[in-house]
Amino acid sequence: MSSPFLGRTLSVINDLTVDEQFYLYQKTAELKQAILNEENLEPFRINKSESGYYLIFLEDSTRTKESFRNAASFHKGRVNMFEVERSSFNKKESITDTVKMLMGYSSQSTFIIRSRQEGLCRWLEGAMKEYAQKSGLQAPVFINAGDGKHEHPTQEILDEFTFLEHLHWDRSSIHIALVGDLFHGRTVHSKADGLKVFNQVTVDLIAPDELALPEAYVEKMKKNGFTVNTFESIESYLDQGNCAEIWYFTRLQLERMGDKVLDKEKQLRRSVTFRKEFINRLSEKTRFYHPLPRHREFPVIPFFLDSTSLNGWDNQSINGYYTRIMEIALFNGLFGDDFNGEVAQKPGYPKEFIEEVDLSQKSNLKSKPMDYKVGIKPVEQGIVIDHIAIGTDLETIWCHIDKVRRIMGLNIRSSHGVYHCNDRNLFKGIISLPDKLSFNKKHLKMLAAITPGCTLNLIKDGAVVQKFRLHSPPRLYGFKEISCKNENCISHPAYFEPIQPDFYRSDSGKYVCRYCEREHHYSEIWDI
Ligand code: NCD
Repeated sequence: MSSPFLGRTLSVINDLTVDEQFYLYQKTAELKQAILNEENLEPFRINKSESGYYLIFLEDSTRTKESFRNAASFHKGRVNMFEVERSSFNKKESITDTVKMLMGYSSQSTFIIRSRQEGLCRWLEGAMKEYAQKSGLQAPVFINAGDGKHEHPTQEILDEFTFLEHLHWDRSSIHIALVGDLFHGRTVHSKADGLKVFNQVTVDLIAPDELALPEAYVEKMKKNGFTVNTFESIESYLDQGNCAEIWYFTRLQLERMGDKVLDKEKQLRRSVTFRKEFINRLSEKTRFYHPLPRHREFPVIPFFLDSTSLNGWDNQSINGYYTRIMEIALFNGLFGDDFNGEVAQKPGYPKEFIEEVDLSQKSNLKSKPMDYKVGIKPVEQGIVIDHIAIGTDLETIWCHIDKVRRIMGLNIRSSHGVYHCNDRNLFKGIISLPDKLSFNKKHLKMLAAITPGCTLNLIKDGAVVQKFRLHSPPRLYGFKEISCKNENCISHPAYFEPIQPDFYRSDSGKYVCRYCEREHHYSEIWDI
């Protein structure tokens, strides 16, 4: 049986189920013991000289890059440090073309990529699988080493491994304080899913408003059953008395901040920097962690704490080496044959968003003359789109009518308007199209996505002969009129990668970009 981990991509921490993550942590613990006890390490090595490991760092890095470089060398394959500064990126080559070329050099390739663009590994996973199939190559492994403000799953793995060590591998509960720049910190964003490895999770968020955790991640934490408390500063956190034992600090990510926030830098920094006077207010068991680097002039964990028992961050940082050896090993299929937990599934999308209404139940509908009109004349033949934005305010209804007409290019003889519903005190929009005698599946999907909840009526000889009720489609792709509105998303038109935007509908009815996971209201995704 082959390993369920073989060939996997790690774009976000949720790409691994909790069982899979825990398996990885256990294997890492075995490796760490073997290294510390100077035991035989051969069983942990891939040892294939034809395997290629490509480190592509499009943003600065010390720890992640160097620990991955050493982890890849441990496996004794070909380690390539891709020189971004001297590559064809400077000749405006797309990353898609670059990766396609590199994967031809090895029988099995692992790409470890850090980028400012969010969702890059997710895109490459799909695109290169297709290319590999066509070219008879093995599909590569992609590991996200941090993508913009989105996620940092391998940091998450080393963090959780460290917390498990701290808690002596007791997974029943964790109480953790997240301190610092929670807005930009991707290592914190990954915690919204990564902490699920513990059964009961209490998260204390300590940050002033300007650096607060984005609402989408707070929501995710709550949905995952975490208890979430918020505090504006370390001082106010200490004042309330119920402090966590595990404190996870992050630096202020100045390089990602706008001028407005930068102006307040000093004040913001003060609220999340630990001060000498606080030290007696901590319990003896307290440990500080930090993904690092620290700012050498204004560190949020000051240097005088380095030699105290609070220092958990040095051991944490070394754990990055062990966990990354194991990530490479697992995704190259070295372990996992004995894994019997839950394996991650590809998401499936329900298809039924176009509901055909059974007209035989309403036989009177057929015989009754229709009251749909084109101008002042009733529609005899054609299509009528009804119930547009029903129940919303008049401006929204007009806006939907306008969107349907523009996006679908309905520049034909027709009429439209906002009307009162028959028996309810509501308004709705109607578009009558006497020259349109049929609608294909793609158009139905488009209409469903522009104005979900509408109905489409096919009229012959003044009677409705077919009627469809349209709900939000579970997935949206293949339309040239849509795009992700996150300027850092790899699918954003500004990056000129050959990517088709792709969205799926979340449980809360939002459209989530398949690459960067930004949530959109359905009306937001259209460009027209
Ligand atoms: C973090 C990162 O790059 O997101 N660093 C790291 O990988 N160890 C945190 C940071 O840059 O502040």
